[in-house]
Amino acid sequence: MGSKTRKKMFFQEVAEAPPDPIFGLGSAFKADPRKEKVNLMVGIYKDDQLRSELLHSARGAKNNILNQDLMADYLPIDGHPELIELLGPIVFGAELWKANHGRIYGAHTTGGTGALRVGAEFLAQEVSKTFYVSNHTWPNHRSILERAGCQYDNYPYYSREKKGFDFEAMIAFLRTLPEKSVIVLHACCHNPTGCDPTAEQWRLISKVMKEGKLFPFFDFAYQGLGDGIEKDAESVRIFLHDGHEMAIAYSCSKNFSMYCQRVGVLFMVDENSAVKMRVGSQVKRIIRALYSNPPAHGALIVAEVLKNDDLKQIWIKDLEAIRKRIHLMRESLIQRLMTKAKAINFEYLKSHKGMFSFIDMDKSQAQRMIDEFAIYMTDNGRISIPGLTTKNIDYVVNSLSTVCAKR
Ligand SMILES: Cc1ncc(COP(=O)(O)O)c(C=O)c1O
Repeated sequence: MGSKTRKKMFFQEVAEAPPDPIFGLGSAFKADPRKEKVNLMVGIYKDDQLRSELLHSARGAKNNILNQDLMADYLPIDGHPELIELLGPIVFGAELWKANHGRIYGAHTTGGTGALRVGAEFLAQEVSKTFYVSNHTWPNHRSILERAGCQYDNYPYYSREKKGFDFEAMIAFLRTLPEKSVIVLHACCHNPTGCDPTAEQWRLISKVMKEGKLFPFFDFAYQGLGDGIEKDAESVRIFLHDGHEMAIAYSCSKNFSMYCQRVGVLFMVDENSAVKMRVGSQVKRIIRALYSNPPAHGALIVAEVLKNDDLKQIWIKDLEAIRKRIHLMRESLIQRLMTKAKAINFEYLKSHKGMFSFIDMDKSQAQRMIDEFAIYMTDNGRISIPGLTTKNIDYVVNSLSTVCAKR
């Protein structure tokens, strides 16, 4: 074939996509030959030896279902129905779940990400393509919304000046939005800032959103890792109590250690049971075309944890242990930083909840942490607290106080 007649190959002009801001850095961390390196990037719970093992409850459940006679069959399009019935009371509380059960549709999805993706496509189809995410937010929110055909913008959330949640700015902004705008809210343990609204603030956010006819889309990925199973669900329950129609993308990755099993649920709170049926039919249509139906194994494990009283008690203790270690590490970090770097005020870290804390630093400082100290963190200053251990904490504190001292 002469060069004139040779056709271009199909993939010749494919541009290289940028690496994922979180997973991408993971490869750089692995390849880093420095001995004293620390990974404070990914939101995976690790113990003080940096092991990420199945929770005791999940391990017990896995063993219980090992010999179950599983059929070689697909799950329904919207997954394992028992999972929805068992998670409903955990998310909404037993009483609210019972009272509203008839109008809440649930689809078991491929992790919280699957729930967000399916939910976004459904809302773009049925409510609005205009979405708002908090500034800052989990970077994948933007990619998910883009792929689901939505447009998005930021709403004010974190203030660098206040070093915390800017409630007034958020409320003022919500009041300006057109009806039907979809607002992505972090139910608890805000990722990346660690700053959550108080219950009182959630009540006002709910009120303003109701008045403005704004649609709440909760991302609920950390139940039980902040203040406890019940307290962490307060935001969602306030909105349900206030009579919102809303969507909740729930993840079992962190609180059941189901990271690689991909277990999540999309809950849709509808006006009534007739609407619920129609909503469910459209959600199923979207799932069928995306991945047909979810995998079963992880959902069976979560269901077994929740329906077996002994395992459920163990799960409650598992979460207590996680919270305790996170709390201890955050406290030690703050105390040591305040002793080491007296000139810098690290008080703001005290109000943070859940896996992440937002260190007040700019991109170049975050890069210095990587380049000079082999401490890997995202470029917005987010650190994952379970990456800290009794062994590495002094090294991290020394490095942070050096880098934060000069701008
Ligand atoms: C805020 C937030 N939402 C959703 C998810 C997605 O969780 P999953 O792993 O279940 O897809 C994560 C995971 O890190 C997250 O941090």
